[in-house]
Amino acid sequence: MTDEKRMAFQGKQPTDMAADLIIPDMIPDDESLWIPQAPDVWFRPLCLNVSQGYYVNLLRVRKSGVLSRHKHAGPVHAHVLRGSWHYLEHNWNATTGAYVYEPPGEVHTLVVPQDVDEMITLFHVTGALIYVDPWGKETGHEDVFTKIELCRDYFKNTPQGADYVKQFIR
Ligand SMILES: [Fe+2]
Repeated sequence: MTDEKRMAFQGKQPTDMAADLIIPDMIPDDESLWIPQAPDVWFRPLCLNVSQGYYVNLLRVRKSGVLSRHKHAGPVHAHVLRGSWHYLEHNWNATTGAYVYEPPGEVHTLVVPQDVDEMITLFHVTGALIYVDPWGKETGHEDVFTKIELCRDYFKNTPQGADYVKQFIR
């Protein structure tokens, strides 16, 4: 008698379903998989979703001080994997293990404290992250498309090649 509880789904998956995505070494030892974004700041793409306009990436910072002041057009979900950080606009600290929700519309200024050697946080960013000056004037932006371009520009000069980024795009 077959134990149905142990059976894999026997039906057909949706024809137009996107491929799943599994990244076993989310925090890789291979330094070449970290994309430099600024001095002592890197990101690692995980899921670059062009049809829903979001990206999931790791941000790794190995310096202290102010990282960026920015506004969010959409929501952000963050999970701190190493180190800690905070925003000048809030009195809480995001420490290792913390989950943070950032609401659409909020402007905040990211700071890594002096006693943190390395910070790694998984950020799920929907829409755009808009860089602003202290008075809100826009100075630049980042979204899933600028992330993909940064990946292509970086990987084209590595053994992985520009198309390496394609595996992260959904
Ligand atoms: Fe933010």
